[in-house]
Amino acid sequence: MNSTMRQWLLPLHRWSGMTVGLVIVLMAVTGASIAFRPQLDPLLNRELLTAPACISRASLDALTASAVAARPTAQLDYIRLIAGGDGDARIPAAMVRFTDQGFVYLDPCSGAVLGQRHRWGGLLGTLEQIHRFRFMPNGELITGTSALLFAIVLIGGGLYLWLPPSLRGLRRAMRFNPRLQGAARTASLHKTVGLYASVIVLASALTGLPQAFDWSKRALYSMTGSAQPAKAPSSGPAAGAPRLPLEQLWQRAQALVPHPQEALIHYPSRPQAAVEMYLIAADAPHVNARTMLDLDAYSGKVLRFTPYAASSLGHRLYFWTLSLHTGHVGGTAGQLVLMLGALCIPVLAYSGIGGYLRRRRRRRPSGRLTLKVRHKSVEAEGICVFDLEDPRGGPLPPFGAGAHLDVFLRDGRMRQYSLCNDPSETRRYQICVQREAHSRGGSRAMHDDVRAGQLIDVSLPKARFALAPASRRSLLIAGGIGITPLISMAEDLARRGADFELHYCTRTAARTAFRDRIARSPYAARTHFHFSDGPAEQLADFAKLLDAPSPGAHLYVCGPPGFLNVVCATARQNGWPDSHVHTEYFSAESTRTADDAPFDIRLAASGKVLHVASDKTALEVLLAAGVEVPRSCEKGVCGTCVTRVLAGVPEHRDLYLTDAERARNDQFAPCCSRACGAELVLDL
Ligand code: FES
Repeated sequence: MNSTMRQWLLPLHRWSGMTVGLVIVLMAVTGASIAFRPQLDPLLNRELLTAPACISRASLDALTASAVAARPTAQLDYIRLIAGGDGDARIPAAMVRFTDQGFVYLDPCSGAVLGQRHRWGGLLGTLEQIHRFRFMPNGELITGTSALLFAIVLIGGGLYLWLPPSLRGLRRAMRFNPRLQGAARTASLHKTVGLYASVIVLASALTGLPQAFDWSKRALYSMTGSAQPAKAPSSGPAAGAPRLPLEQLWQRAQALVPHPQEALIHYPSRPQAAVEMYLIAADAPHVNARTMLDLDAYSGKVLRFTPYAASSLGHRLYFWTLSLHTGHVGGTAGQLVLMLGALCIPVLAYSGIGGYLRRRRRRRPSGRLTLKVRHKSVEAEGICVFDLEDPRGGPLPPFGAGAHLDVFLRDGRMRQYSLCNDPSETRRYQICVQREAHSRGGSRAMHDDVRAGQLIDVSLPKARFALAPASRRSLLIAGGIGITPLISMAEDLARRGADFELHYCTRTAARTAFRDRIARSPYAARTHFHFSDGPAEQLADFAKLLDAPSPGAHLYVCGPPGFLNVVCATARQNGWPDSHVHTEYFSAESTRTADDAPFDIRLAASGKVLHVASDKTALEVLLAAGVEVPRSCEKGVCGTCVTRVLAGVPEHRDLYLTDAERARNDQFAPCCSRACGAELVLDL
């Protein structure tokens, strides 16, 4: 994925969400409320919108006369008739609309006036007025423009931003992860809901465009090579001839379109105007499938008759978009889908805007930095390198070779990664992450979720594995991804002209990070690669490498536990003093044994005593009791969980504390260490 694209798309998506998105939320909420208007309105306004069923109907002329009597000064626009269902006790009222958008509702049987209401009257009418922004001039411009931006920036851009870089990430991104906390949970909700709702809301937004913009409607006709419907032809009144009764014209229309579901009959506004009718045939494919009929008002002659099925493709598409936009395709299921899609919009707004504000408001603990991922690249098979920089391009706190960063992932987890660039660099931190086959989420999240352009929280650099100041010669031995702190040390030593040698053991050349960088470096000649799948003569011979340490020589080893154990044991056998052997583990084997004894931990602050059963760790017991303990590796490697011990003797099983620290017995790693006695009192 193009990171530059993401860098400008993300803020655009965010700011559009907080501006245009709010208009869309209003439209969506009101749209969802009126999705079932055709069914709800007659229920809510039974006496106004329905009348008792009858055998014979009043003539249209009688209905018109009643409406005019109710509103003598208003100008007639059209009459709308809706067929009732067979056997229904009540049938829809006839509606006469006036040019001021006022309606008179009539009993279609008796012609009695049931009441009056403005087009936007009543609860649902008001909601529709808000939905269409008709409470202000040119409201359709606002709704149309918002829908267009929504479709392009928020939905299209959102999907682009959502798209994970890998197939594995794709599967995870399609599911809401309820185990996440805080902002990560909100982001997961936003992405999942956005993904599934996008099809519906995109369809709804795009199908609303032809209603809002004339250009869009014209484009629909021209794209399909269809001519826009011509103006209604004129009637030709014979001198002094009276118009035919409307009822007679209506009978004529029904002869052409028997038992229409709905009819809308315009009153001629001029003496020469034809009587224009829109009819929805009984077998129409959707509620807006209009058949157009124009009758001569004086002779009843058919001036134009275009059944829906025979109308142009552009015409049919236009009315399909209208039905799709209002959810009137597929019956109640279509309305339900539209309503659910619309209701997803406030959820998206809440999760998008709320999540963003929460992240901004979140108090950054002291000692933390928010950095921008400037660059992410694949360094070797299953290994990615991340370049981090100050978002404003400023200098970063200095670090020493071998230092690491705590990286705070969005889901609340924390992982530690060694800095692998030259410590003389002041504006960049570089970390390198290997995707672990049995990742508990850290390396997987770094590979799948962290992208260039993104902000990421990290700690200040921490130096736990550092070059000894007085070393005369340094021997660096890396196992696999253990190269990360050692390459930083190599850069530092090479720049200072120090005497050193780097031995780098990996399984295969393909899984060897920094090969090119080392090959181009000034210390290339001092670096020796050892590939497990290579010829025997190039394999590392630790006995030879560590033979007879020279005075002032220091050994630095980083890699998996088995590798470290072998190197350290060989060094010890060859007489390397412990103080000259520096190690950093990046994973550990389980320290649990069948003989693990239970013990109690007493919390100094509350006096509470917690029992650690033989099959539990102190960390598990503390977390289960609601005691928040920072943690990362949970294997005794990183030191994140190390807690002060006020009384009792710990049985140290971690790989983090130094021998001197262990001997003091005033701290322990609850993720793996246990107690020598029955109780430990912890400073918690
Ligand atoms: Fe890493 Fe305990 S969590 S040492």
